[in-house]
Amino acid sequence: MTSSAVVPNHIAIVMDGNGRWATKRFLPRLAGHKQGVSSLKRCVKACAVRGVSVLTVFAFSSENWQRPADEVSGLMDLLVMAIASEVQQLKRDGVRLRFVGDRSGLSEKVVAGLAQAEADTKGNTRLTLNVCFNYGGRWDIVQAAESLRVMGKPVTEESLGAAMAMAHVPDPDLFIRTGGEQRISNFLLWQSAYSEFYFSDSLWPEFDEAALDQAIQAYQRRERRFGKTSGQLSVEAERSISD
Ligand code: IPE
Ligand code: IPE
Ligand code: MG
Repeated sequence: MTSSAVVPNHIAIVMDGNGRWATKRFLPRLAGHKQGVSSLKRCVKACAVRGVSVLTVFAFSSENWQRPADEVSGLMDLLVMAIASEVQQLKRDGVRLRFVGDRSGLSEKVVAGLAQAEADTKGNTRLTLNVCFNYGGRWDIVQAAESLRVMGKPVTEESLGAAMAMAHVPDPDLFIRTGGEQRISNFLLWQSAYSEFYFSDSLWPEFDEAALDQAIQAYQRRERRFGKTSGQLSVEAERSISD
């Protein structure tokens, strides 16, 4: 086994399938999003218990504004409510909350809520929870490039990476998408360059500890070569044991 036979340090998740979960039960789509928040709470706990240090979740994409207005406003309200009801528990659980995305498109009330929750949890070190909201991978690359242009800095992989909205954490090791679709949908385009992908047919509200463990086990069976050969990795592994 290679070094991937450990718990992934950073897991990223496209939490997809809330709408279908609700529709299957003859419920409004927003009921699926509410259930999605419960599933996220369970996932945060499970990741902390398993020793994952960073969990990044896709909660609202740059493209989700195109949904019906009542669903969009319901998601905004849900974000504010979820923060208000969960921040104290997150604080007790050692979770540092960060919101990643374009805040210029959000209402003052939402922006104030995000800033307060970040300030309340900034001293926590057990798990960093990045909630990507009004986020798009293309937006992030463009805003990073624009900030380098404004500062007159040359564009390199390092400088661009450091200007990205996710620069405070290492790249994801494991990228999970629930809900059965096998696409990126503009999530973490830059940062997932060497992530291991795992697609689950479970709808997000149903994605429980057992489903998470299956994803982690699948990850642990992968060989992460980063462009090298299997033979090179074996030699490196032997060397590190004898060191
Ligand atoms: C993901 O669930 C949550 C958001 C995009 C906000 P969906 O709402 O996309 O659920 P499906 O894909 O319609 O089932
Ligand atoms: C991706 O899901 C965005 C989030 C989970 C927040 P979508 O449901 O919006 O993705 P598409 O439209 O099916 O690609
Ligand atoms: Mg969807």
